[in-house]
Amino acid sequence: MRKILCSLTLFAAVGLLAPAVTATAQTTGDSHSRFEAGKGTFLLDGQPLVIKAAELHYPRIPKPYWDNRIKLCKALGMNAVCLYVFWNQHEPRPGEFDFTGQNDLAEFCRLCQANDMYVILRPGPYVCAEWEMGGLPWWLLKKKDIRLREADPYFMERVALFEQAVAGQVAQLTIDNGGPILMVQVENEYGSYGENKEYISQIRDIVRAGFGDITLFQCDWSSNFTLNGLDDLLWTMNFGTGANIDQQFERLKELRPDSPLMCSEFWSGWFDKWGANHETRPAEDMIAGIDEMLSKGISFSLYMTHGGTNWGHWAGANSPGFAPDVTSYDYDAPISESGQTTPKYWQLRKTLSGYMYGKKLPAVPATIKSVAVPTFNFTEVAPLFSNLPEAKHDHDIRTMEDYDQGFGSILYRTTLPGLSTPSLLTVNEAHDYAQVFIDGKYIGKIDRRNGEKQLLLPACAKGATLDILVEAMGRINFGRAIKDYKGITQNVQVSVDIDGRAFTCDLKDWEVYNIEDAYENYQNMTFQPLTSLTTDDGQRLPGCYRATFNVSKPGDTFLNFETWGKGLVYVNGHAMGRIWEIGPQQTLYMPGCWLKKGENEILVFDVIGPRETKSEGLKEPLLDQLLVKKPLTHRKEGQTLDISDEKAVYHGSFQPGNGWQEVNFDTPVTGRYICLEALNAQDGGEVASVAEMYLLDENGVRLSREPWTVDYADSEDVSRVNCSADKLFDLQESTYWSTAKGAPYPHAVVIDLGATHTLTGLQYLPRMESEVPGGIKEFKVYVKQETFKY
Ligand code: GLA
Repeated sequence: MRKILCSLTLFAAVGLLAPAVTATAQTTGDSHSRFEAGKGTFLLDGQPLVIKAAELHYPRIPKPYWDNRIKLCKALGMNAVCLYVFWNQHEPRPGEFDFTGQNDLAEFCRLCQANDMYVILRPGPYVCAEWEMGGLPWWLLKKKDIRLREADPYFMERVALFEQAVAGQVAQLTIDNGGPILMVQVENEYGSYGENKEYISQIRDIVRAGFGDITLFQCDWSSNFTLNGLDDLLWTMNFGTGANIDQQFERLKELRPDSPLMCSEFWSGWFDKWGANHETRPAEDMIAGIDEMLSKGISFSLYMTHGGTNWGHWAGANSPGFAPDVTSYDYDAPISESGQTTPKYWQLRKTLSGYMYGKKLPAVPATIKSVAVPTFNFTEVAPLFSNLPEAKHDHDIRTMEDYDQGFGSILYRTTLPGLSTPSLLTVNEAHDYAQVFIDGKYIGKIDRRNGEKQLLLPACAKGATLDILVEAMGRINFGRAIKDYKGITQNVQVSVDIDGRAFTCDLKDWEVYNIEDAYENYQNMTFQPLTSLTTDDGQRLPGCYRATFNVSKPGDTFLNFETWGKGLVYVNGHAMGRIWEIGPQQTLYMPGCWLKKGENEILVFDVIGPRETKSEGLKEPLLDQLLVKKPLTHRKEGQTLDISDEKAVYHGSFQPGNGWQEVNFDTPVTGRYICLEALNAQDGGEVASVAEMYLLDENGVRLSREPWTVDYADSEDVSRVNCSADKLFDLQESTYWSTAKGAPYPHAVVIDLGATHTLTGLQYLPRMESEVPGGIKEFKVYVKQETFKY
């Protein structure tokens, strides 16, 4: 690596650091190095190497800023960059590969090398990463029976082609070939998806075919890595700040005492979801974890060191349930979304300065200063309903993918039978945000986030036009629910009253309008001067809004959308991301490198319609302004659980300490509602906390938690980090339910399993920190067919 020749062209545009480097790092041919897993340590040319990697995702950073962000990581004390390759970004249509511009993976790797940084490559094919469908391309869903992330022949065929294309770009940049790439990851955290060594072996072989004799590794959680761990791959662990590090590596050390240890994702912060609190994680926990790992010679990758932005429609969504992610991927990382050094950065830099292994800590490069843009008004609108594309006619309703549409909105139109009384409309299911109109009049919305499926229609005459406008958000990126179709997925029904008898009728014969999310589509709409913000009867106006604004000196800024509804923003043709009035994110990061001196064009496609058509550029982002009306906690006003008449099916105590514990009930018990009552804490404190919980069925097998909902929780700490009770079945071991300070024991949570089950036991995971905050000691379990008395 040291012997690599680079030619750097530095030039400054409009006073920014952009576009900093055109790196043409070349290999000299005599610079081959050997990286391998040695006894208890990584070895580079036979010398021990501790990897201090910064996770950065090049598609989330404007290309002109790549060099600046890599330099910031280097100056933090890192020696490597760990990155995902998002398949759907590189292959938007089957066989159409794009590795140019913002997608230039090889250029990014060369830039890392030019900055004396190694690269850890994670080419999926699945990556998670809060990215649309976990990186898988939506068009895979056109094959209805496809089995994603399994040895499905079509899936594997497409994976092989993609991995081949990736290898075609960067296989010559491995360390053996004189490049920066140290090792390559095989799949991603498969343990939280299933158990399938056959599939993992096939992915390994595909990656091996592309990259030859390079170190390949698998990452997973300490609780599940053995499920899919292949004998010939290196195993690394993922866990978040605060976790008990010795305990995280305990099992690995037992199984492979000589393995080098690496935390391949040490979560610096967390991601934000629409309609939920902004997430932060304390700097002290992150620093203490890194310090401890380095003092023990453990390698790590800090996920994220700089999160960046989910431009355009690329933000994913989480499950169980449907929790779409916001546009900002700030992640509360040491380097903020816009590349600013945070207090976390400086504290971490101080710690890392003690682990430079003889190298000098470089100076911190200048960061890009933000500018304010004065308020500007939108002057033109292209109302959506007068700008619809040509309709397709369909007897049955079908999904977006069936119409070869990947992203954006879709309008389904049909006529209604006569409704003599208000009638119930059922949409199975609207993915993801549906608005219902009759004869152009807004009736209401169906929001998948809240599990909504029904709406009351007013009485109306036969032949009235029913419009269902469905906006797709990101496809789910985690768990089994990644097979996430958009539009309306099954059917639409309306209950009608004929001669006093109720009938349910399936609505058929649809006109379908595909409103694909593409700049050209919005640009080609017919705009008119903006005179009124509402229709004649006062309803908000969905459509595309256009303005120009002037910038005297381009710089980074944060465009404010506090007065807008919900939609997508484009500036000078760049897809900036999603906006939604509910928050918590209210501004979009606007990199100065994509602004022009003078006039700039902005388009906002707002599916709800703005309350005021103005915007401005702020110097600071608004990422923490939640405007949801729905309470963040599950306990309804005045509710108090009364279990005085109930008989517990189990009464016992959990053990102190970290890790999973299992209890088996004396006899199987059947019911739909389960109450876990925590009687006291291991540490004698007032807080109860559960990271994850599973129930075991009659065969002792974990029950699917997909249909679970929280019926009641006596207390939930939603003040800072969101610790609501649904976190105990969100598939994430690093997030947890925690009761709030000031609420004493006993604590209780009631879960609706969605259906009746026979239960034989439960599995409990306390928090991962070594002190096990909120660890429960004595507890009781109650199971009932009907819900509990509140
Ligand atoms: C896991 C995944 C990452 C990311 C993080 C959460 O570790 O591997 O891709 O989704 O969770 O941010």
